[in-house]
Amino acid sequence: MKVVLSLGGSMLMQDFNAERVKHYAEKIESIAAKHRILVVVGGGRVARDYISTARSLGADETLCDYIGTGVTKLNAMLLISAIEQASRIIPDDFRQAYELSINHPVVVMGGTFPGHTTDATAALLAEFVRADVLLNATSVDGVYSADPKKDPNAMRYERITAKELISIVSAGESKAGSSNVIDLLAAKVIERSGIKTIIFLGEPENIEKALKGEVKGIGTVVEG
Ligand code: UTP
Repeated sequence: MKVVLSLGGSMLMQDFNAERVKHYAEKIESIAAKHRILVVVGGGRVARDYISTARSLGADETLCDYIGTGVTKLNAMLLISAIEQASRIIPDDFRQAYELSINHPVVVMGGTFPGHTTDATAALLAEFVRADVLLNATSVDGVYSADPKKDPNAMRYERITAKELISIVSAGESKAGSSNVIDLLAAKVIERSGIKTIIFLGEPENIEKALKGEVKGIGTVVEG
């Protein structure tokens, strides 16, 4: 199988905890023993701190996006430090990622161009390389009918369609550094490509469960 993993920066990078990065690296290597895996790493809190400082200095949203992308690439380099069999090159675009994946069981990249988050980067990559599944390892345990932090009656879906996902995330904002369960562009790419997607609480031990489609208590399956 060909697997694309979108690994949220807020999951991977928690106070520069090397043990945690190692734990993710081990899980990725164990998937790579059986499958080809391409990982897109997010920026997390460090990216958000850079973006808010740049914005307060007068940066426009596109410049903020470039800054965020820079941090995602740093995080990608940190992750490959712990994965021997990963390509040493962090691809700048999908064609380069595809090319590298021919000879490397693991390819890790960050963001690409402004206007979206690494969720969309991962969805576009999954479409381009014709991945069998897109795993979105994020900081929430799936997709809810409303923001569970604001609405106590919000309910978590175990399965939804891509169309339903689009209507849920359409309500969110799209500024640099903003957080939604998944970004709108990603949801639209998932719909048009029909790629099976799992959105789940991205702790290292959940990645293999998500790959098997075992989402009970940890996430949501999005049928393309
Ligand atoms: P992230 O994908 O990390 O955003 O990209 P996020 O939603 O904060 O995800 P977590 O916290 O890592 O889970 C950080 C920022 O980098 C820019 C955007 O501004 C995004 O908010 N970015 C990222 C781009 O402009 N293009 C990309 O392809 C990726």
